[in-house]
Amino acid sequence: MDLESLRADLEQLRERALERIAASTQPDQIEQLTVDLLGKKGELTLVLRGIGALPAEDRPRVGAIANQVRQAIEAALDERGRELRKGAVADRLRDEALDVTTPGRPIPRGAYHPIAQTLARIADVFGQFGFVVYESPEIEDDLTNFQMLNIPRDHPARDLWDTMYVDIPEHLLRTHTSPGQIRVMHAEKPPIRALLPGRCFRYEATDAAHASEFFQVEGLMVDEGTTMADLRGLLDQFAHALFGADKRTRFRPGYYPFTEPSVAFDVECLICGGRGCPACSHTGWMAILGAGMVHPVVLQYGGIDPERYQGFAFGMGAERITNLRHGVGDLRLYLENDLRFLEQFR
Ligand code: PHE
Repeated sequence: MDLESLRADLEQLRERALERIAASTQPDQIEQLTVDLLGKKGELTLVLRGIGALPAEDRPRVGAIANQVRQAIEAALDERGRELRKGAVADRLRDEALDVTTPGRPIPRGAYHPIAQTLARIADVFGQFGFVVYESPEIEDDLTNFQMLNIPRDHPARDLWDTMYVDIPEHLLRTHTSPGQIRVMHAEKPPIRALLPGRCFRYEATDAAHASEFFQVEGLMVDEGTTMADLRGLLDQFAHALFGADKRTRFRPGYYPFTEPSVAFDVECLICGGRGCPACSHTGWMAILGAGMVHPVVLQYGGIDPERYQGFAFGMGAERITNLRHGVGDLRLYLENDLRFLEQFR
């Protein structure tokens, strides 16, 4: 082995290496070539084994040439590697291209049912006066739905509530939320400020104004010195919050067995402003709810001393309030689950 033949081997190694690098087409081929050419057991190492057989003064020169060859190969690997990787990225960008203008899959947005919205609004207004929401069962007993509300068996006042019985004569679907008054009085001591929203049931033939299920919101306040003026003021605030601060309101005499005196609470017609129109049967007023001072007998049934405490109660139909808020004319719409209707309340 002499200097010239070793130099020739190195030159040849470089030539062939550069050709192979130029011919490579994949980034991982570059990695393989790096190992094959420059690795510990690579081709350059193999050629340089011959260096030991050279005279000592020639060794540095071969070393210098070997370095040049290594650097040339490294540079070529580096550059080709970079080229191929760039190409690979371009290929992926092409293959995995996304059309960002394609319309997305719509995610439908839900909404609360209009009745649920009204219940929440009512709870919100009375909540500001310290009223707390309670729940009461939909399946009631005759005692709580009627008798403790001063409506004895076979009393003609029962005709006000066409009742669906679960088992005669004891259990029924509550015809109003008023039995909740009794349940709250049994559970709490005065002062009481309770709001009882819930579903009620009556034996009705369905039409635009009658439904066999509907929602009511009951209110009950019991405290020392509670008066009709407190009731009036509270209901005024409520009507003004829901229908506008400029709306006139009125009490007119009503009848319920469980309140004495009893009233109907009206707000001026929201359509004609009080002049009289078909919507208010030409009275200028719209009935909002029934109310009154809790009958002493009812307080007693509730375990409360009527000599010491007074109370008022009110009950309203949530569908009626919702009709007035949104100009809806047919109760059946609330139960049909027709999206064309419900979507309007988003
Ligand atoms: N419960 C009565 C009804 O169903 C409404 C009402 C509640 C009246 C509370 C007075 C007091 O019509």
